[in-house]
Amino acid sequence: MSVPRVLTSVVNGTPVVGDYARPDINPSDLGDVVAEASIVGPDVAADAVHAAAAAFGAWSRTTPWQRAEVLDRAGSEVIARADELGDLLAREEGKTFPEARGEVIRAAQILKYFAGVALQPHGLALDSVRPGIEITVTREPVGVVSVITPWNFPIAIPAWKIAPALAFGNTVVFKPADLVPASAWELVDILNRAGLPAGVLNLVLGRGSQVGPVLTGDPLVNAVTFTGSVSTGKGVLAETVARGAKAQLELGGKNPLIVTDNADLAVAVEAAVQGGFGSTGQRCTASSILVVTNGIHDAFVDAMQARMARWTVGDAREAGIEMGPVVDDSQLQQDLRYLDVAREEGATVVGGELLTRGLSGHYLSPALALGTQATDTINREEVFGPVMSVIRAADYAEALERANASTMNLSAGICTTDLAEASHFRRNSKAGMVMVNLPTAGVDFHVPFGGRGESSYGPREQGTGAVEFFTTSKTAYTLPGTP
Ligand code: UN1
Repeated sequence: MSVPRVLTSVVNGTPVVGDYARPDINPSDLGDVVAEASIVGPDVAADAVHAAAAAFGAWSRTTPWQRAEVLDRAGSEVIARADELGDLLAREEGKTFPEARGEVIRAAQILKYFAGVALQPHGLALDSVRPGIEITVTREPVGVVSVITPWNFPIAIPAWKIAPALAFGNTVVFKPADLVPASAWELVDILNRAGLPAGVLNLVLGRGSQVGPVLTGDPLVNAVTFTGSVSTGKGVLAETVARGAKAQLELGGKNPLIVTDNADLAVAVEAAVQGGFGSTGQRCTASSILVVTNGIHDAFVDAMQARMARWTVGDAREAGIEMGPVVDDSQLQQDLRYLDVAREEGATVVGGELLTRGLSGHYLSPALALGTQATDTINREEVFGPVMSVIRAADYAEALERANASTMNLSAGICTTDLAEASHFRRNSKAGMVMVNLPTAGVDFHVPFGGRGESSYGPREQGTGAVEFFTTSKTAYTLPGTP
């Protein structure tokens, strides 16, 4: 099955052509148009919300087994087509083929995991503190859920929002990022063909500025789950919470990775490069600040530079490539701007050069800003590119203080072989996720995902966290009387 040349929205099971076509460009080769997205406006978004609301009653009354079967069947198709969908994702978004294929497999695992979750017990039955009264606490679906997703994980993030929404009996209006309509379209197509009734999952290919206010503001929308920038997230939150709907936000991250004198140097370098440059650094979980203690600082920086010199950048679909291109020109300009600002503020930047490849693409070599201070712009704002900075710290205590200075506390890591340091860090890090001897990025789907500070809002995503957001609880008291 190949991607249609023109991708349309899907409302109530029917394709809807929009007002104009937007090309879906391959960032590795700007001459390659992957597909065209037919862009709709607010009217179609409102139709999608109505379709989801109309489908809710029947879908919420399906059995857990019916919902599990759809998700499981969809997961099987995603796995069966992992090579093809991985190739599409790499071509559309620019992460390497192994990364893209890995993401596709992750999406399949998420679909299958939530198939299982649909069948698990989520309620309670207990006696009242008053005699003769019985209590049940049950979980009911929230209703219509708007799912708004970013471009950097074009299939995994939609899967980890849509799968739990459907598993718990909600209906969905899904708006993917403009840059990745093809992966989104495929996921919706697979789920719909796996047996979703019309209207349960609707796809809206539209600009955020146009359709966003409908998806967050329509009174028929009961919950909004959003992953994206802090600034857009704040707008989503204001509109959603103002009318009493539920909101779940996953926003930026400014994630520190501490390397202490007790680190295994090879482990630390690998954690840093994978965490910082994997997926071209375009992850909210990316390791962006390396806080390195005095005794290992120089050896670590030397080893990093040697590793970076061997780091291969090129066409995302070429074998052996370690890093694909930056996703588009505006992201590339943002990366370059942050490197300029770092230089102006006194850093020495290694790498971060524009690269020419056989194809016209947004190629940038990985960058490391040395000699930075915690107060520098590069250590306070999210770059979202293959850019890391190094802060020197006197010892572990100072490194912890620097690491906890972030306001976007999504993920934080430490590389050390000292158990006491690792344990202390796990307990005292301010981040929502802590990694020991691992990159800050790269998470599992069966455990909660999320951060603290400006990074997240609302219940956690994924794993055991998902039930909190995608259901609402009901406490029922019954006086059965005497038979
Ligand atoms: C990961 O690190 O495996 O947008 C996932 C992001 C995150 C997902 C990261 N929500 O980068």
